[in-house]
Amino acid sequence: MSAELTQPPFLVFGAPQIDEGEIDEVVACLRSGWLGTGPRVAQFERDFAAFRGVQDTQVAAVNSCTAALHVSMLAADIEPGSEVITTPLTFCATVNAILHAGLVPVLADVDPLTQNIDPDAIEAAITPRTRAILPVHFAGRPCAMDQIMAIARKHNLVVIEDCAHAVEAEFDGRPLGTFGDFGCFSFYVTKNLVTGEGGMILGRSEDQLARARILALHGMSKDAWHRFGDKGYKHYQVVECGFKYNMMDLQAAIGLHQLARVEQNWRRRSEIWQRYDEAFAQLPITLPALAQSNTRHGRHLYTVMIDAKQCGIERDEFLEAMNAARIGTGVHYLSIPEHPYYQQQFSWRPEQWPNAMKLGRETVSIPLSPAMSDGDVGRVMDATRRILGA
Ligand SMILES: Cc1ncc(COP(=O)(O)O)c(C=O)c1O
Repeated sequence: MSAELTQPPFLVFGAPQIDEGEIDEVVACLRSGWLGTGPRVAQFERDFAAFRGVQDTQVAAVNSCTAALHVSMLAADIEPGSEVITTPLTFCATVNAILHAGLVPVLADVDPLTQNIDPDAIEAAITPRTRAILPVHFAGRPCAMDQIMAIARKHNLVVIEDCAHAVEAEFDGRPLGTFGDFGCFSFYVTKNLVTGEGGMILGRSEDQLARARILALHGMSKDAWHRFGDKGYKHYQVVECGFKYNMMDLQAAIGLHQLARVEQNWRRRSEIWQRYDEAFAQLPITLPALAQSNTRHGRHLYTVMIDAKQCGIERDEFLEAMNAARIGTGVHYLSIPEHPYYQQQFSWRPEQWPNAMKLGRETVSIPLSPAMSDGDVGRVMDATRRILGA
């Protein structure tokens, strides 16, 4: 047999679990003749609002979390040029959205244990120009929302939560995304709830949410379903210069069924998490910290730290060895100031945020998906132990 035939299939990192429900709904959507923003998006919004315990008028579906972050900052009416404090350990979209909104990103280092933005570092970064805090619930672990909201109240700051990793996470029994003025969610292919591309804005104020919704569709007062739907043609007015950020029914068709299974998928990821914790306990790597007792962790990314001195292998060598074992991995994230654009634009150096720098240089995310079989989980555990010489 050729080597190719004997190789195990490549285990794709963060592969979504797609069931017949999603497939049938997409086909039904295609057959309905209505692919764009319409009744399935409206249903998905209602289901999402019920899931997070808010009013239907407090949510708006969009085509990405990046879009959600962008229009939330605009709808919050933050004066252009104001400073927004966020974490250096995040995806570039968080920082880019701040820039697209005409605002100035200011980084505050993370806590080395939780990998989330450190409230003391937020306090230290506040200047007279600070208007907002943008915490990211990294890997699904809730940020210290009690302390962050206390800082926001003290300094009269807007809070926009980046909940891209944390759709089902809670702090003190309260859903993430409901603490700040806005919560922004991602339904990208690797996320806990998948629509392909997609996102959701959750707004505390119905008025601000209504504005975000208009901004997300060209600044138009009515979406297409309300212009061309079965109630007769309705005129619309352009009331702002908005963006093309609307979600399609085709995407919501997937989301409706993903949302119905969000708890089941969370339980499966929690189970895999537990197995990894046990299997890796004796390895010379740092495992994710335990979830804080007053929180519900979203279990989005299982990240381990490869310190070359302790492990006898560089982080990037570990990534390559996993790839050779036909296992996909991720890096979440090289800290933001490692990237040339931000270095050139802001003269940032990674050393200015040492905790995020160290984590970003050592971290590896190993596969964690409800689509993984027990055999897949076993393969990841065996390969990890073998590569680390255990
Ligand atoms: C922390 C974080 N914020 C924002 C985003 C952007 O999400 P989207 O791809 O839906 O725009 C991501 C996506 O990977 C993310 O991980």
